[in-house]
Amino acid sequence: MIIRREEPKDYPIVFTLLEAAFRDEMHSDHKEQFLVERLRKSQAFVNELSIVAEQDGEIVGYILLTEIDIQQNEELTPSLALAPVAVLPTHQYKGIGGQLIEYAHNKARSLGYQSVVVLGHETYYPKFGYQPAENFGIRFPFDVPAENCMVLELVPGSLKNVKGLVRYSPAFFE
Ligand SMILES: CC(C)(COP(=O)(O)OP(=O)(O)OC[C@H]1O[C@@H](n2cnc3c(N)ncnc32)[C@H](O)[C@@H]1OP(=O)(O)O)[C@@H](O)C(=O)NCCC(=O)NCCS
Repeated sequence: MIIRREEPKDYPIVFTLLEAAFRDEMHSDHKEQFLVERLRKSQAFVNELSIVAEQDGEIVGYILLTEIDIQQNEELTPSLALAPVAVLPTHQYKGIGGQLIEYAHNKARSLGYQSVVVLGHETYYPKFGYQPAENFGIRFPFDVPAENCMVLELVPGSLKNVKGLVRYSPAFFE
């Protein structure tokens, strides 16, 4: 399997992959493919952090990390949001999602980013080091259970003195 940066020629395939991956997902609005289209055009987009997994010439997985801030009063701490990660239903449970997440973390760290936030399955992300955001006093601007709001220190200790509200790109609310 090859994991590489997404290129514009991949956009239509990634669109179809997202539709298929989230089709039966209970906690999805089934619009992730449109969110990704908006994020690619937004200031939050970092091309190196839009990543595909390719197997035998076919794109089977996708992950996107985009820039966010964690805001407390006037102070903004730059961070990243993981959204979405998706693997084709025919290729799930084979470790591809996990490899994409680890690859994206390493790439983000190499670019100098220090942390990642995610809104997702409370049983999945802790495997990759994510911890409850509430342990850090970090809040999300969505009405969701606290257990689904998680954060990861890419650099140990980087969130030690960071608390506040996650400020997503406006692309998340369009
Ligand atoms: C979540 C997803 C990206 C995982 O990719 P994957 O390649 O199947 O995952 P991996 O093979 O690396 O890991 C498998 C683990 O993920 C868990 N997992 C897989 N799909 C899951 C799902 N839909 N919900 C919760 N956990 C899931 C499995 O329980 C398994 O755990 P185990 O190792 O303890 O048995 C993939 O299932 C997917 O695309 N789901 C639909 C889209 C989605 O929900 N994305 C996440 C948004 S928060």
